[in-house]
Amino acid sequence: MIRFENVSKVYPRTHTHALRTVDVRIRKGEFVYITGHSGAGKSTLLSLLLRRTAPSEGRVLVNGQDLARLPERKLPLLRRAIGMVFQDHRLLASLSAEENLTFALRATGTRGDLQQRALQVLRQVGLAHKRKAYPIELSLGEQQRVAIARAMVTNPPLLLCDEPTGNLDPDTSWEVLELLSDLNIRGTTVVIATHSRELVDRLRRRTLVLRGGELVRDDDAGGYAL
Ligand SMILES: Nc1ncnc2c1ncn2[C@@H]1O[C@H](COP(=O)(O)OP(=O)(O)OP(=O)(O)O)[C@@H](O)[C@H]1O
Ligand SMILES: [Mg+2]
Repeated sequence: MIRFENVSKVYPRTHTHALRTVDVRIRKGEFVYITGHSGAGKSTLLSLLLRRTAPSEGRVLVNGQDLARLPERKLPLLRRAIGMVFQDHRLLASLSAEENLTFALRATGTRGDLQQRALQVLRQVGLAHKRKAYPIELSLGEQQRVAIARAMVTNPPLLLCDEPTGNLDPDTSWEVLELLSDLNIRGTTVVIATHSRELVDRLRRRTLVLRGGELVRDDDAGGYAL
């Protein structure tokens, strides 16, 4: 599903080597952590998958498609196939939980009963009863669950999460992690960038470790210790 082929990334303005010949494959249905210290290149790796940025060398392939060769007009299609969850949830403050989801559905041109679909996914993250609440009326953990619901509402086969539990206490982090694990069990490929040792040690899954942009470990059973 995902293939990084000797990918290097240098940010030209600052000459930062964010990634150095990263070569890795992630298969459909996997649950993978990308760990490493701050600045190791985790977010850069995710940005490449959404083609927010381009590799300086090497190729990034999603479902066999070289993203560098993807025509501009097909970008929305790529981004519709990839759900993205950010550390700072980025919900729209002026919209309720449900409206945040229907907005995402509309933005991707989904038809049908959007409200029904939104409710179904909110139920899945255990927040149907909060569907009318605005982000400010939700706890941080609830906000993050709505953000995951929003990323999932278009039913993308791939979910990318950048520090999805960054602002959460351990219990709430665990709830979010269980939710992501559930989604994975139901078939979604999940990639989580995080520097949280607790997360990675608590639910052991394949773990990629970046150090200074280099992939220094790829461990099936996971665990954080370097
Ligand atoms: N847009 C950019 N322009 C220039 N340099 C950048 C840009 N984005 C990231 N960098 C640099 O690239 C390196 C990797 O950054 P990246 O954001 O991928 O790290 P990260 O592992 O996600 O870190 P964190 O855990 O702090 O989020 C860092 O040295 C960073 O300063
Ligand atoms: Mg980051």
